[in-house]
Amino acid sequence: MSELRFPENFVWGAATAAYQIEGATQEDGRGPSIWDTFSRTPGKVFQGHTGDVACDHYHRYADDVAMMAELGLRTYRFSVAWPRIQPDGTGPVNPRGLDFYDRLVDTLLGRGIDPFVTLYHWDLPQTLQDRGGWTSRETAEHFADYAVAVLGRLGDRVRTWTTLNEPWCSAYLGYGNGVHAPGERDAGAAFRAVHHLLLGHGLATRALRAAGVATLGLTLNPADVQPADADSEADAAAVRLVDGLHNRIFLDPLTGAGYPEDVLEHVARHVEPTFLRDGDEKIIAAPIDLLGVNYYSPAYVAGRSGGAGGSAYPGTEGVVEFLPPVGPLTEMGWMIEPAGLTRLLERIGADYPGLPLMITENGGAFPDKAGAEDPDGTGRVADTDRVAYLDGHLRAVHRAIARGVDVRGYLVWSLLDNFEWAEGYRKRFGIVHVDYLTQRRTPKESARWYREVISRNGL
Ligand code: FCB
Repeated sequence: MSELRFPENFVWGAATAAYQIEGATQEDGRGPSIWDTFSRTPGKVFQGHTGDVACDHYHRYADDVAMMAELGLRTYRFSVAWPRIQPDGTGPVNPRGLDFYDRLVDTLLGRGIDPFVTLYHWDLPQTLQDRGGWTSRETAEHFADYAVAVLGRLGDRVRTWTTLNEPWCSAYLGYGNGVHAPGERDAGAAFRAVHHLLLGHGLATRALRAAGVATLGLTLNPADVQPADADSEADAAAVRLVDGLHNRIFLDPLTGAGYPEDVLEHVARHVEPTFLRDGDEKIIAAPIDLLGVNYYSPAYVAGRSGGAGGSAYPGTEGVVEFLPPVGPLTEMGWMIEPAGLTRLLERIGADYPGLPLMITENGGAFPDKAGAEDPDGTGRVADTDRVAYLDGHLRAVHRAIARGVDVRGYLVWSLLDNFEWAEGYRKRFGIVHVDYLTQRRTPKESARWYREVISRNGL
């Protein structure tokens, strides 16, 4: 097999998110978030799982960081829980909440691992949701205040800051089809949320920049949307609609082009865009240094009258059919298609030039067993599917780089098995197995393999 080398200074690491791993949801003054409420609402999360304990990372962070160092990670992307910092989402800062991230950052730096902060990975303070959440403009303004409070404590040591993780999910899954917290089902609310998330990003970016942040950006989960039939005009129209709702609605305003006309027309069929005010697009276009790209799977669509559409894409009902995924699939039922990542990176590189990219999440869920769940086992988790998944996708990233796309790094999702949102703990994405009864961590084969990749800077 040919050897592939990544560029010098390529960033290697792993990612997690606060609610998915921390636990300790009632400690040190943390307020409730929309995910606490949602996971307690019957029928929303698999078997009523919650993030109350999760991986108990809040107490075990020092051991977890030591393990990261053993695994050779150079960068660790984690998120800060807003309700730890401002329990009500506004007003006085809770110093004990900041203390935790302060300790985490120091521990990371002490082990030579670069901290990479995500300010918002979906755990909105419940008090703000009670006042409209992301459908309310005020949430965007409060988000900027919160960002400044976190920067005030960690800014002397953290170089890389991102505002939002996957606003597509927050808006369309949170307010559109209700699969994620807060569980609303209203197309108009979803579009309002898109705009206020982007506005919050812009306001926070402006404030953080003014405070002197070095590297600043956000993470999207842009989709590789493909036509069922490359020669069909109807399918091309379906691609354009889905691409507009998933990609251009975020990327165009972020890069200064404003919202695309066709997308605005579509939105106006669901909600009067009175929430879009003069000057907003300028705020959203605040320059960024880095675009985080999370990629898992492509989407194939057909233009079909009477098509079922996608519940996460308001207005696609009756005109678009999402094709069922074709194997091989991960345990999430997501198609494994590394070529989709190359296509996606090349497309972003071509349509939005000059924007450095980083893969801030990529990985797969597979049914791994270890420890108490696998008492006769060898103590090793032979996750060959995951190794193959990661290997294929790293080759796909390399191909995009070889074709001239500016990709600066790769962060695997995820360091640990964790609370996979509506799926609870039943889907395992970690390169490290977590036994939820004992909290024992067992690095999987993929973790050993990844350590090698990092140390060779290649495959
Ligand atoms: C992404 C999320 C992340 C994780 C992965 C599997 O959409 O950002 O928290 O759930 O999917």
